[in-house]
Amino acid sequence: MDIATLDKLCDRYAHERGAIVELLQTIQTEEHYLPRDALERVSANLDIPLSQLYGLATFYRAFSLKPVGKHQVLCCTGTACHVRGAKRVVDHFRRVLGIEIGETTEDGLFSLHTVNCLGACAVAPVAVIDGVCHGEMTAANVEKLVRQYRSRSGE
Ligand code: FES
Repeated sequence: MDIATLDKLCDRYAHERGAIVELLQTIQTEEHYLPRDALERVSANLDIPLSQLYGLATFYRAFSLKPVGKHQVLCCTGTACHVRGAKRVVDHFRRVLGIEIGETTEDGLFSLHTVNCLGACAVAPVAVIDGVCHGEMTAANVEKLVRQYRSRSGE
């Protein structure tokens, strides 16, 4: 987001102090995270301490202070998935993407996270990519899905 757009957004929210979370959400949606320079600009424009903005950014799970990938990969490591080989699936995503849990690929395409139970235990082990549930995951599925999402992104 360029500075002029950010300044315009700040102007819009200048008189609605209660809407600061909404402002941060707009930045998060646009950038896929909250860049430090954007938070500094908001802080200066709206005269809100940077520490307060960081407080909000770390309080709400919807915000990230680190760049996140275009595609969010969530691997379930809950009990049902664990019993049916979730670790192998997670390890395969780590190997294929070349990142550790919590990291984002260098090309900015994928972020990898684990969660406890996605509510689809019947088709364990489960991975959710961009909100779409993929059940009965195998190592072969991991490679196929990564290929599909890469090609959708034109990579
Ligand atoms: S334990 Fe994985 S979906 Fe429930």
